[in-house]
Amino acid sequence: MANQEHLQAQDLEYNWHPFTQMQEQKSWGSKVIVEAKGMMLKDANGREYIDAMGGLFTTAVGHGRREIIDAMRQQGEKLDFVSLFDFFTNEPAIELSKKLADITPGDLQYVQYGCSGSDVVEIALKMARQYQKRRGFSNRYKIIARISSFHGVSMGALSANGVTAFREPFEPLVPGFRHIAPANCYHCPFGRTYPDCDIDCARALEKQILFEGPETVAAFITEPVPSAGGVFEPPPEYWPAIQEICRKYDVLLIADEILNGFGKVGTLFACELYNIDPDILLLAKAIASGYFPLSAVIVKPGIYEAFLGPTNREAFLHGQTFQGHPVGCAAALKNIEIIEDEKLVDNAREVGKYFGEQLQGLLEFKIAANVTGVGLLRSVGLKHPTEEREVPYEIGVKIREKAYELGLICRFQVNSLVMSPPIIMTREDVDKAVDILKRTLAEAEKSYF
Ligand SMILES: Cc1ncc(COP(=O)(O)O)c(C=O)c1O
Repeated sequence: MANQEHLQAQDLEYNWHPFTQMQEQKSWGSKVIVEAKGMMLKDANGREYIDAMGGLFTTAVGHGRREIIDAMRQQGEKLDFVSLFDFFTNEPAIELSKKLADITPGDLQYVQYGCSGSDVVEIALKMARQYQKRRGFSNRYKIIARISSFHGVSMGALSANGVTAFREPFEPLVPGFRHIAPANCYHCPFGRTYPDCDIDCARALEKQILFEGPETVAAFITEPVPSAGGVFEPPPEYWPAIQEICRKYDVLLIADEILNGFGKVGTLFACELYNIDPDILLLAKAIASGYFPLSAVIVKPGIYEAFLGPTNREAFLHGQTFQGHPVGCAAALKNIEIIEDEKLVDNAREVGKYFGEQLQGLLEFKIAANVTGVGLLRSVGLKHPTEEREVPYEIGVKIREKAYELGLICRFQVNSLVMSPPIIMTREDVDKAVDILKRTLAEAEKSYF
């Protein structure tokens, strides 16, 4: 049996894939990726693919970066692991925390690490609740999030999630979570049209806080640029209004930049795009470009100081074995150094603009509903070409698989093809990617409807 087929068979024999109907995977077959370099992935048959997903929104600096691998190896040889429990620490964790404090917006300063996005969402939610207690507001426990947002899979993070399909199988979830409608000018949940809408989507937060009683609300958590069901930039008035509402009612603002962060939107953090000054910022995915599973939560000094006290009762009693892993922190430091040295954020802004312009060409297809996003974080909304309805899930999957067959990796999320290529992308890469997408949609219109 050829290597690819053998690996595919073994994969289906032993691996249970995340978020996957394994029966469906059995019918499509597993994609065995064995090598990666720059923008490209290679399968076990030697076929190459443009990684327009940058791993899973992770790979900012591209694959196969010798500098990061060397930094991890050197760190591993010097000190493979020490936990941050019991007053221990390590050099890369110290250096990375200082770096994050320097490069993140506002006066964010104190860092706790995790191994995944869900880890740091969980930290932020627990921190927000205990912080309010520490300030004497025991009743401020409610967390407001947005419908359609994705924040992770652990029970707290899942409770913040606004995606019914992910929530429903695990209900009842953690009490005290509320959801408001998102900002989405393409499918306005209020049936309004910008700019005559008075930003109802932002007002929804104030209405919800007043309905709950401000003295019961701990925090509002959201992504600056949502991406779960297509990448939709909020209207310009949205974030200033949200910031003002949070300040007015003394509600913590948690910016989930787990997916947005580290350059892909054309600024290092999406908070910079909209002048957001969060109390708590969440980072993961591209923090170490996927070379190591690492995440971070960074908070303002006032939050950290509220936990100081004479005993452990005042402390934030949350800890996981691998927080602040030295090899992961070394990978993140080198990753950030590359992003800075190679001016990759400028590249994401410039090439991202070109990517957005070229993607507009897809609107010639009846199946393409819209092209949205910012920088290199982009999505192409899909619709039924002849009927007033969304593209069926099975067709969305076929389109994604067709793109793969033609040499491009993207994701089908809700009604959109979502892309987040490495921020090393060039204009030539854009041309190649858009050409494949055009051929994919042409094929889809011909064959699937
Ligand atoms: C915005 C956002 N928050 C949280 C998460 C959860 O991250 P993880 O899958 O690493 O737990 C994700 C994952 O896609 C995400 O996009």
